[in-house]
Amino acid sequence: MVEFNRRIKPPPFKTKTIEHIKKTTHQERKMWLEEAGYNIFNIAAENVYIDLLTDSGTSAMSDYQWAGIMMGDEAYAHCKNFFNLKDVIQDITGFKYFIPTHQGRSAENLICYAFNLTQSKVSISNQFFDTTRANIETSGAEALDLIIPEAFDPSLMYDFKGNLDCKELVKTLENQDNVALIILTITNNTGGGQPVSMQNIREVSKIAKKYTIPFFLDAARFAENAYFIKLREEKYKDLTPKEIAKKTFSYADGCIVSAKKDGLVNIGGFIALNDEKIYLKIKERMVIVEGFPTYGGLAGRDLEALARGLVEVLSEEYLEYRYNQVQYLGNSLVEGGIPILLPVGGHSVNLDARRFLPHIPQAQFPGWSLVNALYERYGVRSVELGSVMQAKKDKDGTWQYPKLELVRLAIPRRVYSQEHLNYVTDSILDLYEHRSEIFGFEITYDPGVLRHFTARFKPIK
Ligand SMILES: Cc1ncc(COP(=O)(O)O)c(C=O)c1O
Repeated sequence: MVEFNRRIKPPPFKTKTIEHIKKTTHQERKMWLEEAGYNIFNIAAENVYIDLLTDSGTSAMSDYQWAGIMMGDEAYAHCKNFFNLKDVIQDITGFKYFIPTHQGRSAENLICYAFNLTQSKVSISNQFFDTTRANIETSGAEALDLIIPEAFDPSLMYDFKGNLDCKELVKTLENQDNVALIILTITNNTGGGQPVSMQNIREVSKIAKKYTIPFFLDAARFAENAYFIKLREEKYKDLTPKEIAKKTFSYADGCIVSAKKDGLVNIGGFIALNDEKIYLKIKERMVIVEGFPTYGGLAGRDLEALARGLVEVLSEEYLEYRYNQVQYLGNSLVEGGIPILLPVGGHSVNLDARRFLPHIPQAQFPGWSLVNALYERYGVRSVELGSVMQAKKDKDGTWQYPKLELVRLAIPRRVYSQEHLNYVTDSILDLYEHRSEIFGFEITYDPGVLRHFTARFKPIK
């Protein structure tokens, strides 16, 4: 049993402005789901009571960030906010070059282009996020996940379930000479927001150097990862999150970042790196696809909000609050007997849909069913990280289902209160009592790539 402290510290901020949320009826939500093809992404946000679809781009900005919005310099080239952001990113990452992008996936796309990730090439990760995988695969290359086996046991308590399996990495590099890029995702979103240890980052870096493979971090949640290292790796317990983040980046050749997470902004991303040739290649490409390389698809005001968010996110008080809030939700569910992925991750609590709904086979998408039931009955929006997102056909055309079938409750940063999380817990406890009433789904429209965003479904009753 996880030790559970019901009294969590108050947040290190107070509320200055509010956004109204609306209660809707069960009947209304049932109708909206049917109209939406039972795809939660098609539900109007105003019809969601508690929105845990994602922690991406959903943060509440501070008064300091909003003040920065007014300081936006909207000059086309080399606006002053670009320089402010450059200083902050160089200070945290230590990388020589920096390029803003409008969000993480455009950074991924540019990196695939710059490293020429075309056919017969391979990129390796602990676990690729879905858009990173899609960018690599649509470029023609193979995206290979080498996560440690512990990651697949949902009830195993293990400090760094996001680690890359270094033995497998060496084995692969010994047998293949077509590996073009290693990307370590910190924290591992697909595996439930699980952290990667400094020891693992250092080891991957050493191996990458030995085999002369460029090593990048997908550092969307670099600050949360740093806080886990502080809590769980003895050697780093006296360092500040910023010192740990700096050390983390020092082992890599570059990073791609969706700033919509630990940038504490609603839009933005960036690439930072040391290799001048790759930097110039990206810059040239930027002009065609994103905009002039000093604004990267963003407004000057967005760059400023990000520069300020990146400083705020490394506050130890903030990270402690963030960690405690996510743990609080996870531990409340564990106390109520709900099967979740353990230990609780950095930005989300993940329900284990296979244990929650053992009567629904993976071919009928238990994770998807759980997401639908949570919204239909309680107005809580979550997201499936399971077979709709990750199942793949093998060479013989047989579906291969993922080992974990998760429903992610992602917690937006600085948005919801303890009372909101209590409502979510009570909803899930109630749903668990009625779990035998939940049914599976079949797909009626499958777009292929990133199908979870647009696929349509019908219930199997
Ligand atoms: C680990 C990780 N990488 C990349 C991305 C893609 O970023 P964006 O949504 O900004 O394109 C995400 C988004 O959730 C993510 O979690």
